[in-house]
Amino acid sequence: MSTRRPLSTGRLSYQRFPFRTAENAAFLRPFVKWAGGKRQLLRQFQSLYPEKDSVSRYLEPFLGSGAVFFHVKGLLQPTRALLTDTNAELIDTFLAVRDEVDNLIELLRQHTKQHCESYYYEVRTQSPSTPVARAARVIYLNKTGFNGLYRVNSRGLFNVPYGHRAKPTILSEALLRAASVALRNAELHARDFRDLFAVARKGDFIYLDPPYQPISKTAKFTSYTSGSFGENDQRDLAALYAKLDRRGCLLMLSNSDTPLVRELYADFCIHQVSARRMINSDGEKRGPVSEVVVLNYRPKAHRAPTSQPG
Ligand SMILES: C[S@@+](CC[C@H](N)C(=O)[O-])C[C@H]1O[C@@H](n2cnc3c(N)ncnc32)[C@H](O)[C@@H]1O
Repeated sequence: MSTRRPLSTGRLSYQRFPFRTAENAAFLRPFVKWAGGKRQLLRQFQSLYPEKDSVSRYLEPFLGSGAVFFHVKGLLQPTRALLTDTNAELIDTFLAVRDEVDNLIELLRQHTKQHCESYYYEVRTQSPSTPVARAARVIYLNKTGFNGLYRVNSRGLFNVPYGHRAKPTILSEALLRAASVALRNAELHARDFRDLFAVARKGDFIYLDPPYQPISKTAKFTSYTSGSFGENDQRDLAALYAKLDRRGCLLMLSNSDTPLVRELYADFCIHQVSARRMINSDGEKRGPVSEVVVLNYRPKAHRAPTSQPG
């Protein structure tokens, strides 16, 4: 487990957060594209969150692009957050956005000026020495690589090909600044989800979005890091969910709608949501697929769940 320094709360009081205005809230969204990202589901999630007043601390152990964190931050305004993911490069990028946003913006400006296919492959081979330059590299490669994928080879080296996009937006200054402010009261660590058990407390609102259980043998995508997420991990996660439920945490979990997932969470409320995802090996074909959201609390705008605990 890494021991990064916890966040100092800074000068800005929570009441004065700039994104409380509609204008800034519009920029409160992910600064990277991420496989399995939840942006398209946020509208459906809104009615599944707990009551605003019941949430003071928010935990997200499979952070990815942070789409749900930024949404929850704007809507429920938890005063503190603990955000983790096993992808250390991703977590370091969030830390740079939080702590060094000015330098990061400047470096992305330089990447933007030099951007072309050969420059992409040059940057892909580099390993910059400072945290902020490493973060700028991650964001640059994410914006210009194929489909915003993050994929590494067995040696942990980023190996996504060039994205061939006509005019990628490499730098969105307003978005990075809004994200930096939103992250001020957040602690970030590169950790496995199992470490959550040691830190979660009664009353925490926890959103869990693991790599999905594959809906078919060919529909497997788990390469966010050089490791993978198999059935044993799904079972460990379900066991953790049950333990955190007994502790009194408010739990919201996403997964694919499969017999195994329904079996693992049969004791809880399973809601169905509809997402547009890649549906076969042809990367361009997308279709609506049913996914599940498992809750252990009654959401603020209660809708009938598709299955009830017996
Ligand atoms: C479905 S993605 C999360 C997407 C995110 N909710 C979003 O909207 O962008 C799953 C994430 O889990 C991370 N992950 C994979 N195995 C993990 C593990 N054992 N513990 C913690 N995080 C893990 C991956 O790096 C990936 O970022």
